[in-house]
Amino acid sequence: MNPHQTIEHTHPPTGKDRLDLLGYSQDMLEGLPDSLIDAFKGIGNPFEIAPLKAGATIVDLGSGVGVDSCIAGFKTGGRGKVYGIDSESAMLDQARAASKALWLRNVIFIQGDMENIPLPSNLADIVMSNGVGCMCLDKEVVFGEMYRILRDEGQLQLADMIAYGDVASSPTASDYPHCINEGTYRALLEEAGFTDVKITAVANSVEGPEAGLRACHVFARKKIVLSITPND
Ligand SMILES: C[S@@+](CC[C@H](N)C(=O)[O-])C[C@H]1O[C@@H](n2cnc3c(N)ncnc32)[C@H](O)[C@@H]1O
Repeated sequence: MNPHQTIEHTHPPTGKDRLDLLGYSQDMLEGLPDSLIDAFKGIGNPFEIAPLKAGATIVDLGSGVGVDSCIAGFKTGGRGKVYGIDSESAMLDQARAASKALWLRNVIFIQGDMENIPLPSNLADIVMSNGVGCMCLDKEVVFGEMYRILRDEGQLQLADMIAYGDVASSPTASDYPHCINEGTYRALLEEAGFTDVKITAVANSVEGPEAGLRACHVFARKKIVLSITPND
């Protein structure tokens, strides 16, 4: 990754153009209503980070109007379960209407905060989010919550904005008020207990790279290491 590279994005693409650029295939978007596609606000493609298995339990944090949650619902199938969590009721209303119209009975949307996720511990195979972490002030709490709700060997698949310099001079800085740099991001994930942390630049970035900001994909795994203390 070259964090100093700068590309002009006067008008970041929206809707279908944005999804195309980020590598969402026509198959993935099949049947999704235009209103949902037009309201997509993701900055990466969590499905590119690793495939979702049928039957898996997925949590989509900051699910917005539910594009990624609905795609995950199709991918995990009838034996799978998807929980979309968002703090805004207007987003949840749209997401619920879409999943109902698509007959996605395995997708549930719940109002809640990523800093206090309204789900039990050790539930999810994958926690994903797209363009949301950079909006949360207390990453330590958010990463701790992600760790708590994942099962052992569960995975994080995030798309997030990461800081590489003078964020304040970025034209979109106010959209991503709580970006942190890659080193801090990695350290906080590891402090939360995650291993195998991989942070890579989103190939066809729709936001940035601008002064100080870069859209990235983040992978990490929850691995519980049991330490055995020999008896005296
Ligand atoms: C940039 S939008 C991304 C939405 C969606 N992931 C997508 O790709 O279209 C950010 C979303 O995160 C939600 N959000 C922001 N802070 C949140 C928090 N602390 N807890 C839960 N949701 C949050 C907002 O309501 C909004 O729907």
